Amino acid sequence: ERIPVICIDGPTASGKGTIAAEVAHRLGYGILDSGALYRIAGLAARRAGIEIDPAHEAEIAALVHRLPIRFTPAQQILLGDEDIGQAIRSEAAGMDASRVSALPAVREALVALQLDFQRLPGLVADGRDMGTVIFPTAPLKVYLIASAECRAARRHKQLISKGISANITALRADLEARDARDMSRSVAPLKPAPDALLLDGSELSIEQVVEQVLQWWQERQ
Ligand code: C5P
Repeated sequence: ERIPVICIDGPTASGKGTIAAEVAHRLGYGILDSGALYRIAGLAARRAGIEIDPAHEAEIAALVHRLPIRFTPAQQILLGDEDIGQAIRSEAAGMDASRVSALPAVREALVALQLDFQRLPGLVADGRDMGTVIFPTAPLKVYLIASAECRAARRHKQLISKGISANITALRADLEARDARDMSRSVAPLKPAPDALLLDGSELSIEQVVEQVLQWWQERQ
C-alpha cells in the first residue's frame, strides 16, 4: 500500500517545523524532522573531534552509520539514552548541520533512516530535499518561504522565549549564509521540486499556512 507523504521544504526558519508538526497533528500522521538528523550528525562529528570538511567525509559518514538515533513517540530525540533535543537547537549546531549536510556520503548514510519514517496512516516530512530526493513521488510538496527579515525576527523571538540571548542582525546574517550554502551545494541542493507548490508565509499566520496546506491535501484526496 502507498503511504501518503506530505513534503514541506524551504529555507532556514521559514516555519517548516511548526507547520509540519501542526499539519501532522491535525491529520494524525507521523512526522520526520530531517534537519534534526543533520544536526545530530554535526554534533556527533564535533563530539568525536572530527573536523567537518570534505577531507573527513568518509570518517563522518561511517560515524553517522553507527549512530544510535531514536525518535520517541513523544517527539524526543535520543542519541543512545541521551535526550539531545536541546543540544542540537543552537545556531552553532545549525551551522555544523549545514556543513555536514554538504558531504554526499553523509547524506547517503541518512537515506534509509528517513525512508523508514513512512508508516501508515501517513507522514509529514520537513527539510530541504524531501520533495526533490527522499520522497520524489509524494503527492503533495510544499515549498515554504518567508522574507529574510521575517525569518530572522521569528528565530529571534523563538530563542528569546527559550531564554537564549540572540542578536537579530547576526541571526539574519547566519541564516542567509546557511541558505546560500544549502542552495549551492552539489548534492541535493535546496530548491523547489518541479511539482512543488510555493507558499510565502511572510504575511500569514501559522493557522493560515496550516489551512492552506490542509486545503491542498484535501484537493488531492
Ligand atoms: O531544518 P534545520 O535548520 O534543522 O536544518 C539544519 C541544516 O541541515 C540545514 O541548514 C541543511 O543544511 C541541513 N538539511 C539538509 N537536508 C534536509 C534537512 C536539513 O541538508 N533535508
